[in-house]
Amino acid sequence: MTGEVGTGKTLLVRCLLKLLKCGNDSYAYIFNSRLSPLEFLQYMSGVLGLKSTDNNKSTLLLDLVSFLVARHEKRLTTVLVVDEAHDLSADVLEEIRILTNLETTQEKLLQILLVGQPELDEKLDSFDLRQLKQRVALRCKLEPLCPEEIKGYIERRLQCAGANSHAGELFPSDTIAAISRYSRGIPRLINTVCENALIAGYARQARSVTPDIVDEVAADFRLDTADPVKIEARSRSEEVEFWQAVKTSLESRDDTQGAGPEENSPPIAVPRGAGRNEPLI
Ligand SMILES: Nc1ncnc2c1ncn2[C@@H]1O[C@H](COP(=O)(O)OP(=O)(O)O)[C@@H](O)[C@H]1O
Ligand SMILES: [Mg+2]
Repeated sequence: MTGEVGTGKTLLVRCLLKLLKCGNDSYAYIFNSRLSPLEFLQYMSGVLGLKSTDNNKSTLLLDLVSFLVARHEKRLTTVLVVDEAHDLSADVLEEIRILTNLETTQEKLLQILLVGQPELDEKLDSFDLRQLKQRVALRCKLEPLCPEEIKGYIERRLQCAGANSHAGELFPSDTIAAISRYSRGIPRLINTVCENALIAGYARQARSVTPDIVDEVAADFRLDTADPVKIEARSRSEEVEFWQAVKTSLESRDDTQGAGPEENSPPIAVPRGAGRNEPLI
């Protein structure tokens, strides 16, 4: 599964893990993709509850195979989920390919889900990884929300926060159009803009969030630098650069959450809601 930064990949993975937890399925969730092949196997074995996490690769693999065979005999599923898989090295991806060979004559012993940014697709398209690419049984791409979905998304979150029948009034349609333009449908950016717009609106004692409040918030977070018309004409490398900048901006925001104001803190992405992990809505 691939999708741009902030489109909800990790959220979906967490929903899946919740479902797996409810059943008898065992899973290894790996979110630190900057591991060597041996560290990857050690981590995976550790998470699956295997005893051997030593430095001997063959011991690790033998234990893993016995574990998977024993579970398969009991008709139990085992899943490996790797988040941020676009960061995996070619060596680790090759290790994962070898894991796909663990099978009986009829079934795979291990179900594997790779989740990452679009760079993962590019990696899988490379000549060196063609063997792994051929083994992918299902591929999907998480797209940003369309304007209609953005409206539903904001209203749903407002309702969860207790806005009830006022949800539609708080964010009028021209405000939603502005949010849509700045966020480009990325849920994490929608959250950031809405949270800060609500705080600004509250400070002004406004009855609803107006488009100019959204403009101000977007300027604070430097989201107004992304002109959609220009973006259409961007080359792929410029797109990557753009998303990197958005990611850095969001990360710097995460880093500053809960911390007091610092002299050298970046001038942008001022966390008006600092100290909370979840947005207001
Ligand atoms: N469909 C959705 N419904 C509710 N919240 C969402 C949805 N998609 C994304 N989010 C929220 O957007 C933010 C970013 O999602 P996340 O899963 O971390 O993105 P990614 O892993 O793709 O970078 C999170 O706060 C998440 O809760
Ligand atoms: Mg993620």
